[in-house]
Amino acid sequence: MRHLTAIADLRDEDIGAILDLADRLYTQPERRYPVLTGRTIANVFFEPSTRTRVSFELAARRLGADNVAVAGATSSTVKGETLLDTVKNLAAMKVAGFVVRTSTSGAAAQVARAVDAVGLPVINAGDGLHEHPTQALLDAGTIRRHKRRIAGLTVVIVGDLTHSRVARSNIALLSRLGAKVRVVAPRTLMPVDIEALGCDAYTDLDRALEGAEVIMMLRLQQERLEKQPLLPSLREFSQRYGLDDRRLARLPADVLVMHPGPINRGVELRSSVADDKRAVILDQVTYGVACRMAVLCHAFGTTVPVASA
Ligand code: NCD
Repeated sequence: MRHLTAIADLRDEDIGAILDLADRLYTQPERRYPVLTGRTIANVFFEPSTRTRVSFELAARRLGADNVAVAGATSSTVKGETLLDTVKNLAAMKVAGFVVRTSTSGAAAQVARAVDAVGLPVINAGDGLHEHPTQALLDAGTIRRHKRRIAGLTVVIVGDLTHSRVARSNIALLSRLGAKVRVVAPRTLMPVDIEALGCDAYTDLDRALEGAEVIMMLRLQQERLEKQPLLPSLREFSQRYGLDDRRLARLPADVLVMHPGPINRGVELRSSVADDKRAVILDQVTYGVACRMAVLCHAFGTTVPVASA
């Protein structure tokens, strides 16, 4: 049993094993491997999610496990029950492990501590502004499939860095795997100490894109910006920090354009760029199911007998 609350929970050999298994599973995405038969995984999602939630459900099913879903709006947390009590109650019903998404940074690690004694693994599916480790793993795997390597690549992460757990996990993982990571944002969306995570910070997108081999666009998290407006205008943000056809035309033919989804078409990405052949956004989603199957195997200390690609 192993938790995955942040990239730092993984040893180098765990990262290698997860990505290698995900690569093999990706080649036959619909096949079923009944290595978790008889176990029930609880998907506790207290924030909206489409890709992450559904891909964890499919991943569990394709490994033979059952799922139960607990959504914030329809659970007893509305009546005041805490996340930790919710999870302890699910543990009392003998679920085998948890996938957790919350708006509170650090909550995944708290849940992990709460159920550690009963030996149940916890996988963080995004905790507030902190981390989203499985997104970073699927992004790294997608980059490696397309570019055949990660070490030495120049990866540029663009946009709402302040609110992005995707960026934090990606900086941690990609810098550890030897990529040169640049981050770009207006000053108001740039955390002050971000370079300490292992990246170089830019405020000028065109400068940051010089030599870029992978571009990861982030969603402008308007639901969080509503509470604390940090941008003078959406239009100005889109002009200065959006990826449009003019900027894309200056980049090499083999540049990878990535986005974790959901996309705000016309804000961080011009619609034509989202649909360009250099965009691998839907491939990230396909790889995401394989990657989450590999992460579940890691959490339960098992693997699947799938031949190499
Ligand atoms: C991200 C998330 O929720 O952190 N989405 C995802 O899981 N693919 C990114 C976002 O919401 O902008």
